[in-house]
Amino acid sequence: MQDMNTSLVDKLVHASRKHARNPYEYIEWPETLEREAWHVSPELCSIYGTRYWDELDDPARKRLSFFEAVNFFSLNIHGEKMLMEGLSARLYVPGQPRIAQYIHHFLDEENKHSVLFGGFCQRYAGKIYPDRKLAISRQMSEGEADLLFYAKVLIFEELADAYNLAMAQDERLHWLSRKINENHHYEEVRHLVFGRQMVKDLLAAHGTGWSTEKRRELGDYLGRYLESTWREYYQPDVYQDHGFPDPWSVMESAWDHPAQREHRRRTSAKCVSFLLENGLLTGEPSP
Ligand SMILES: [Fe+2]
Ligand SMILES: [Fe+2]
Repeated sequence: MQDMNTSLVDKLVHASRKHARNPYEYIEWPETLEREAWHVSPELCSIYGTRYWDELDDPARKRLSFFEAVNFFSLNIHGEKMLMEGLSARLYVPGQPRIAQYIHHFLDEENKHSVLFGGFCQRYAGKIYPDRKLAISRQMSEGEADLLFYAKVLIFEELADAYNLAMAQDERLHWLSRKINENHHYEEVRHLVFGRQMVKDLLAAHGTGWSTEKRRELGDYLGRYLESTWREYYQPDVYQDHGFPDPWSVMESAWDHPAQREHRRRTSAKCVSFLLENGLLTGEPSP
């Protein structure tokens, strides 16, 4: 693949340098955290719209939202670990010196995001929730591994960013949770631009000779990846820590509930239409 368009990479590098934030100074962590406050917007809590939600009073919903925040930040840490591994493996690929310049910033920013997510989870919950994502294995041909890596990054970042953006603007949120979301959205905007361009460039470089059968396989793979990414938002440990007696049943019924299906469809729409336009999904998935 050729190196990326100079003006785009230069713009991204310039913005990363100009707006760099130090995660160790950016937040003054309170000694203790108020639990009866919104830490995730009510509409973004994973049981919103289900009978489990309806049966909770307002203080209980707020307490649940704290564990939902721990999960949202934990799943971001797991996604960023995958991202940092993949990015560092792609540093200084021969013939792409400009891309390398931006990968340095991308890596640096992801590491700093995880410092804040981990800071919140470790301080106030004493843990990070486990990564329950299903690994999907596949034999990869030339160019395919890079394309799938950046397409998966795009799915993970687009969904998380929809949450970040909504919560950065939500005045009901506790200031700390809101600030962490605002900070993440602020830097993710550049990653999303870069990721979309990488997917397009990789497709142009490698995808033209791919058969219909291969396209279909890639589409199925990314459809399954989208579903497994969404699955992480329904974390049984959240329901257990909140005190629901059967956390796995809560997880299954929240996942299957029509209100949650509709929420996933709406939230995925932008990312799904990008993948469809670029022939990277075989049909509209129903995550
Ligand atoms: Fe990030
Ligand atoms: Fe990112």
